[in-house]
Amino acid sequence: MKVMVMNGSPRDKSMTRNLTNTVTDQLDEKGIEVLTFDAGFHNLPLFKGRKEDLDHPEVQRLITNATKADAFVICSPEYHNGMSGALKNALDFLGGSHFKSKPTALASVGGGGKGGINALNNMRTVMRGLYALVLPDQFCADPTCFDEKGYMVETNAKERLTIVVNELVSLTSVIEKKIEVK
Ligand SMILES: Cc1cc2nc3c(=O)[nH]c(=O)nc-3n(C[C@H](O)[C@H](O)[C@H](O)COP(=O)(O)O)c2cc1C
Repeated sequence: MKVMVMNGSPRDKSMTRNLTNTVTDQLDEKGIEVLTFDAGFHNLPLFKGRKEDLDHPEVQRLITNATKADAFVICSPEYHNGMSGALKNALDFLGGSHFKSKPTALASVGGGGKGGINALNNMRTVMRGLYALVLPDQFCADPTCFDEKGYMVETNAKERLTIVVNELVSLTSVIEKKIEVK
């Protein structure tokens, strides 16, 4: 099983990267292969719908990983009540063929209080447009979930995240069995 873990934050000191690192650790512990996209490291051009941009090495990398992935964990900061523009730009380079029938978990990081839920709702709408099999459960972190080194130290948050990751892995395992429906 290959799971693609995506960080939608382009910021150098990204809180969402703390989240994707935690997800990656949880998947590593299960011996699951992790494919990555990080909007802060993998600099994509702006999507303009041009054929020549598909040859860009970072676009190629994104498409190759998304094609290989059996499932996704898509993580975004909440910016102005939605997902990051960088994540939406990355998703615009992909299509339904990359996500159709693939289990997808959504997670966000907000600024605190009740932040993060709008990004999740926005991501859910977009991933519906990409035919992803989005889990009903989802995860939302506050910056206070992490310590200064970026480790997720809040026990409740860690437990909630584990539930979502386990659900994704279980559903992906069932789908991998490829039971044919006649
Ligand atoms: C441009 C911008 C807009 C933001 N808008 C929101 C918002 O609408 N709701 C919220 O809860 N937090 C908002 N925040 C706070 C971020 O969600 C929070 O700082 C988060 O940890 C950023 O994740 P990152 O470090 O991975 O980029 C905003 C931050 C920025 C930079």
